[in-house]
Amino acid sequence: MKIALFAGDGIGPEIMAEARRVLDALDLPGLVLFEGDVGGAAWRAHGHPLPPETLEMARAADAVLFGAVGDPECDSLERRLRPEQAILGLRRELDLFANLRPATMFEGLEDLSALRPEIARTIDLLIVRELNGDVYFGEKGTRTLPDGRRQGHDLMSYAEDEVRRIAHVAFRAAQGRKGRLTSVDKANVLETSQLWRDVVIDVAAGYPDVALTHLYVDNAAMQLVRDPGQFDVMVTGNLFGDILSDQASMCVGSIGLLASAALGAGRTRFGTRGLYEPIHGSAPDIAGRGIANPMAMILSLAMLLRHSLGREADARRIERAVARALADGVKAADLGGSADTRAIGDAVLARL
Ligand code: NAI
Ligand code: MG
Repeated sequence: MKIALFAGDGIGPEIMAEARRVLDALDLPGLVLFEGDVGGAAWRAHGHPLPPETLEMARAADAVLFGAVGDPECDSLERRLRPEQAILGLRRELDLFANLRPATMFEGLEDLSALRPEIARTIDLLIVRELNGDVYFGEKGTRTLPDGRRQGHDLMSYAEDEVRRIAHVAFRAAQGRKGRLTSVDKANVLETSQLWRDVVIDVAAGYPDVALTHLYVDNAAMQLVRDPGQFDVMVTGNLFGDILSDQASMCVGSIGLLASAALGAGRTRFGTRGLYEPIHGSAPDIAGRGIANPMAMILSLAMLLRHSLGREADARRIERAVARALADGVKAADLGGSADTRAIGDAVLARL
């Protein structure tokens, strides 16, 4: 088992250090770790945010644990040299097409949710968003009509195989959870969505243990705030998933708690190859002060163990330790507490 650790910029190295301590504590047999430079740090050391050495490491690994990239000192660089190109480049080069974003309410944090506490308490869902297709990648352009008006267009399209592979990821994820999958589309008006729905129904035949339902995206947005507890796994295209996953994030509270995975088609011996990272960025405003919340990073490690290494029990151990630490009042500044980065790492380790 090989894991590549890319800490990156800003708070990246600070939170990665705590995830690393948790990983070390698990003492996994046969584990090999690589450490590589990404982002502004890599640009300084090698002149590029995603140097060939780093990309090679990522290709050789079963999974990548990624901190965050982004550095205000790089803001004036041309686009291809900006730190953010590291994450975009890794997604592209590793063909990571499935974005998984869990949203779970932790005990004691209900008041931080944008929802009423009694509704917030019921949230325990996973959004599976397709990441490489849809309207973002279709043919696009702006033209001037004969009457002088300008018109923009972006083509929405999905090919069958693109829907099929994301559907498989979602069904497998549902099997590992409560066995319920909601596919979100707009099949009443969009051809792309009708094809999406047909393919998802077709794939469902291979997963008789998963209960599949369909929702139109406008209704899904409403249900997500009205009664989020009804959802287990939601699967949707790139555009709808972008919006719904941000909406779901804010239903559970702080950005310092939210982990994510980007999975590809590649298989490891025990699961799917992928890249795991907190959803937040490099937080330059608090970098270097040792006060960042490392929980999203530690929860990203849990996802890595679950999806790439097949170590569900270890993943749950970590998630329970984080939940207990929060329930015991161990909170960083982003949650209104005063625990520093290291103290949170200590608290999680003590509860493993
Ligand atoms: P950000 O997520 O870095 O920070 C937003 C706010 O949340 C800040 O006030 C920050 O202090 C706080 N925050 C974020 N993570 C935290 C944590 N773990 N603990 C406590 N507080 C936390 O977003 P922002 O400021 O828009 O972007 C900063 C840089 O990060 C930019 O260069 C941006 O491009 C980059 N970025 C990188 C991402 C990635 O590596 N995947 C994702 C998002 C942004
Ligand atoms: Mg977004």
